[in-house]
Amino acid sequence: MILFRQMFDAKTWTYTYLLADPITRDAIIIDPVLEQTERDLAVIAEMGVHLRYILETHVHADHITGGGKLRHSTGAKFVAGAGTGLDCADILMAEGDVLAFGNEVIRSISTPGHTDGCTSYAWRNCLFTGDTLLIDACGRTDFQQGSASKLWSSLQKLLAYPNETLVYPAHDYNGRHVSSVAQEKEINPYIAGLDQAAFEKKMQELNLPNPRFIDVAVPGNVQCGEVG
Ligand SMILES: [Fe+2]
Repeated sequence: MILFRQMFDAKTWTYTYLLADPITRDAIIIDPVLEQTERDLAVIAEMGVHLRYILETHVHADHITGGGKLRHSTGAKFVAGAGTGLDCADILMAEGDVLAFGNEVIRSISTPGHTDGCTSYAWRNCLFTGDTLLIDACGRTDFQQGSASKLWSSLQKLLAYPNETLVYPAHDYNGRHVSSVAQEKEINPYIAGLDQAAFEKKMQELNLPNPRFIDVAVPGNVQCGEVG
């Protein structure tokens, strides 16, 4: 048994995940959103769990992390991928590093491409893929040190997990909550039937506007959400 809550921020279409060991009550949260801090603290209180770690999948461009506030409120440690180089983080996770919460273990997978420091997390039969692998999509690579060739390699790494592995992304813009490795291999238009060259061409041809909040989000996130 496990305590598992998927929460949504409608303004930025962001998913935040709360996981806890039901016996020891040790919990982690993945990708909290600053404006949802009160909600997150309420859920933590309602579940009667103790937040140990705040895990970021990357330096987000679309929202400020709630990690700074949550760290102050709960004493949890702020965790990010080593590639972010965040001085404000308590723990930087390199490829394969693990964190324990109660009897549960979560492992980091270095998945650069959308940004340099993107990290996915593997727990039981689930992958938390951040903006690396989205449902029927993948993260853009046109800013924040984005690299289509690195993203290609990172996607292959995630898709090498067993077909039945569940995929929990950082966002969904179409109301979907979860996918699987098999489903993404079969119908994701950025994956199915594409070789690396075709993928990179497709990424180069995307002509996307900048995220609405990038000018406040990135500076806030490089301070781990410590924004007053
Ligand atoms: Fe992102």
